[in-house]
Amino acid sequence: MIIRSQEDVTEAVLAEMQRTPDARTKELLSSLVRHLHAFVREVKLTEREFQDAIGYLNAIGQKTTPSHNEAMLMAGALGVSNLVCLINNGAGGTRPTQANNLGPFYRAGAPSCADGESLLRSPTPGPRLAFKGWVRDLAGNPVAGAEVDVWHSSPVGLYENQDPAQAEMNLRGKFVTQADGSFSFSSVKPAGYPVPIDGPTGALLGAQKRHNFRPAHLHFLIHKPGFKTIASQVYDPADPHLDSDSQFGVTQALIGNFTREKDGFSLEFGFVIEPGESRLPKPPITAKAKAIQ
Ligand SMILES: [Fe+2]
Repeated sequence: MIIRSQEDVTEAVLAEMQRTPDARTKELLSSLVRHLHAFVREVKLTEREFQDAIGYLNAIGQKTTPSHNEAMLMAGALGVSNLVCLINNGAGGTRPTQANNLGPFYRAGAPSCADGESLLRSPTPGPRLAFKGWVRDLAGNPVAGAEVDVWHSSPVGLYENQDPAQAEMNLRGKFVTQADGSFSFSSVKPAGYPVPIDGPTGALLGAQKRHNFRPAHLHFLIHKPGFKTIASQVYDPADPHLDSDSQFGVTQALIGNFTREKDGFSLEFGFVIEPGESRLPKPPITAKAKAIQ
């Protein structure tokens, strides 16, 4: 098609896409083109802004390494991660769910742990945390034999993959739920943390005068064949950034009830999983940061 006007460009691209054999791919790409072109028209994108946008997209890829996922971080900062989560869980977004963003720091291959085992693999100072969780189905019955991956930041707000001072897989472990659907572990209480701001996500937050903190939380990934795999996070209500999470992950259903004990804290939390596809997500990172020489 010879382009005669700016309107023709959209028509030309959409017409070329008509040959896409897979129906869902065709739907996704043609909707993306319609919205992208509408966006360019609505804001009257300048040539300079277009060049800057291309630079940001390239920088997202360039910033991504085996121990850091900038695209995942950006998706969270734009609220897309949690939107995708909420429309795909809780009966299509019609009721509360314990599902939440996977986040950029999940690693596969965490060590298997016996019930009650500690997540500490190197000395990690900080208040102790005793956690007990339950996994139940929609009818409230215990789900035994579910695999539960757990990971969280240290009391100084760093995941082991970001922190060469922590042992490999520190504050990470994989548990299997007991006959009553429960699992438990001991650890240290995680701190809230700033997400990295040395890439395009930092530029976005800076331009909008937004802080880059996430409220303190623990991550879970619950998997059992026959049930929809869910990632979850449980948040600390005492954190000052609870209602201004820079990744928009905090929902009412995920605020934990931390109880102060004489030597630290305890936390009990229930997860509900629903029937569905038990596919595991692709880990956003695959390695730990190397020590700075
Ligand atoms: Fe996190």
